[in-house]
Amino acid sequence: MRTIVTAMDIRRAVTPAELSAAESLFDGPARTEWSERFLAAPGHVMLIAYVDGVPAGMVSGIEMSHPDKGTEMCLYELSVDEGYRRRGIGRDLTLALAEEAKARGCYGMWVGVDTDNEAALATYTSAGARDEGVFSMRGWPLAP
Ligand SMILES: CC(C)(COP(=O)(O)OP(=O)(O)OC[C@H]1O[C@@H](n2cnc3c(N)ncnc32)[C@H](O)[C@@H]1OP(=O)(O)O)[C@@H](O)C(=O)NCCC(=O)NCCS
Repeated sequence: MRTIVTAMDIRRAVTPAELSAAESLFDGPARTEWSERFLAAPGHVMLIAYVDGVPAGMVSGIEMSHPDKGTEMCLYELSVDEGYRRRGIGRDLTLALAEEAKARGCYGMWVGVDTDNEAALATYTSAGARDEGVFSMRGWPLAP
């Protein structure tokens, strides 16, 4: 019988090259200009999960501050490569971002989820999220 040993670790991305190497986890290719802006922006964080050195999942978060509220973390994107799902990576990335948020002094973390995204809802519940209700989203496309 063969035993397959895999090692997973989660690291914060600090270079555009790391973001580019993980771009299959994004909705589209990483652009250098946008990667540099993301990495340089205060309060922006991306954690990448590596399995045997291969990017298998990522979570991004953005701190939001307000004068009467302090600072909270918004979980912006969470994604696990299809071949690595259902192994606890999504939960571990979410927990790692929550830890990072705590270390940065955030009073809470939140995420918006499509109400029919069962995998994401189960993952956030598994990572300790409470149901804080349903809201409707409105947007303003501004690109020319
Ligand atoms: C959502 C996503 C990140 C989950 O990643 P994952 O690594 O497979 O999740 P985990 O293995 O950590 O699972 C965490 C929990 O969710 C449950 N879960 C995961 N996928 C599920 C599914 N498709 N249906 C039901 N439950 C599911 C697991 O059983 C586990 O529950 P447990 O802790 O009680 O055992 C992944 O499915 C994904 O990348 N989806 C596409 C992108 C997306 O929708 N992102 C979220 C946007 S808000």
